[in-house]
Amino acid sequence: MELKDNTVFDCSVIDMAKIHSDSGNITVMENGNNIPFEVKRVYYLYDVPSGEVRGGHAHYELQQYIIAASGSYDVVLNDGVNTRRISLNRPNLGLHIVPGLWRELVNFSSGAICLVLASEKYNENDYIRNYNTFLKLKK
Ligand code: TYD
Repeated sequence: MELKDNTVFDCSVIDMAKIHSDSGNITVMENGNNIPFEVKRVYYLYDVPSGEVRGGHAHYELQQYIIAASGSYDVVLNDGVNTRRISLNRPNLGLHIVPGLWRELVNFSSGAICLVLASEKYNENDYIRNYNTFLKLKK
């Protein structure tokens, strides 16, 4: 399988609309509307102990759209040349992660919830979990 030659600059942070009222806010994610792919899977990461690092892998094909549904964390993206650190700290910010990038999720606040919308069902064969393998495939 070929690893896509995307760079960290192909990822975008999207400021999603809020339906505001005095009793609270709603933000909507809808296939064919404000999500850059068809969503096939949704999962969320929670109860991450302070100081823990998640991610630490790349994907061949998977696209993800991730949100800090509660709390905050930072996403460190790496394309083998450039790194980019994005802080997700508001529930209406979405980060679109394109395939072919190494990513780590760090600096989780207490109670943080990382909500992930994914373009494919879970497939372990889509992962590259070794950083040196990733660097070789990016060359
Ligand atoms: P992983 O994607 O490595 O987690 P993270 O990037 O958040 O650190 O997945 C951790 C474990 O969970 C791994 O054994 C695979 C399993 N898993 C599933 O079975 N299904 C899924 O949809 C996901 C995302 C993970």
